[in-house]
Amino acid sequence: MPARPAGPTVLVTGASSGIGEAAARRFAAAGAHVLLHGRDRARLAALAAETGGTPLDADLAEPGAAAGLAERATAVTGRVDVLVSNAGLGWAGPLPDLPGAELERLVAVNLTAPLELTRTLLPGMLARGQGRIVFVTSIAGRTGVAGEAVYAATKSGLDAFADSLRYELHGTGVDVGVVVPGVVRTAFFDRRGTPYTRTTPRPVPADRAAAAVLRAAARPGDYYVPRWLRLPVALRGAVPGVYRALATKFGASS
Ligand SMILES: NC(=O)c1ccc[n+]([C@@H]2O[C@H](COP(=O)([O-])OP(=O)(O)OC[C@H]3O[C@@H](n4cnc5c(N)ncnc54)[C@H](OP(=O)(O)O)[C@@H]3O)[C@@H](O)[C@H]2O)c1
Repeated sequence: MPARPAGPTVLVTGASSGIGEAAARRFAAAGAHVLLHGRDRARLAALAAETGGTPLDADLAEPGAAAGLAERATAVTGRVDVLVSNAGLGWAGPLPDLPGAELERLVAVNLTAPLELTRTLLPGMLARGQGRIVFVTSIAGRTGVAGEAVYAATKSGLDAFADSLRYELHGTGVDVGVVVPGVVRTAFFDRRGTPYTRTTPRPVPADRAAAAVLRAAARPGDYYVPRWLRLPVALRGAVPGVYRALATKFGASS
């Protein structure tokens, strides 16, 4: 049996870049043993050397990869106390231009993998009577965004999953937090091949989103980054017709 570290064991998916990398650094600084997931082995190795964490590479677009990752993660210290389901990718453009294989990749990485990771890690958390699951979703999943229908659908699906789980897990000692970023300064936009050109919301540093991830793990709930993004979501909930008219006029695209 591996030696039990003093702090919690935290699995961060997508720790090789952006929000996940910054969150992994923060968890390590707070005394956690961090399981660093991604695909870029060189970046994971460098972060592992810096944080004392354990690199775990897996392509979450591959069938069965999430369950395999959960198994390997659990083997490192014998438990995963906190799952930060953050790995994800975007795609922007008119829906008919989205290749079918890319649609499948978006759904596999952004939606199926977090669901499967949660399903696989949850029994251990329930048996111990404690655990935290944090999902990094997106404002796109709460408001809808033109040109990002499939991306928004994956994030919206994750939101519905998180909400449903919260009810299911009430009283078990396992709880769910959600981080809802607006626009964060990471490689996300270069990677999706479409730059972010709007002026609002203004991009925030990755570390600001990472701080929200740690807050969501400590006190489960919904954390918008930046916080004012809860206002358009509240407006859409209260008066959807007014919200849609405004979004259509001023452009709900990124
Ligand atoms: N940046 C934003 O404005 C923004 C806004 C709202 C929500 N988000 C969400 O925040 C999360 C983190 O994004 P980010 O901004 O930090 O972007 P990022 O810098 O591009 O990081 C994405 C991470 O996801 C991993 N990943 C991507 N595809 C993967 C795959 N097939 N298998 C395994 N890992 C994969 C990447 O691993 P490798 O680098 O090793 O491939 C990387 O670690 C995503 O879920 C994204 O949807 C971002």
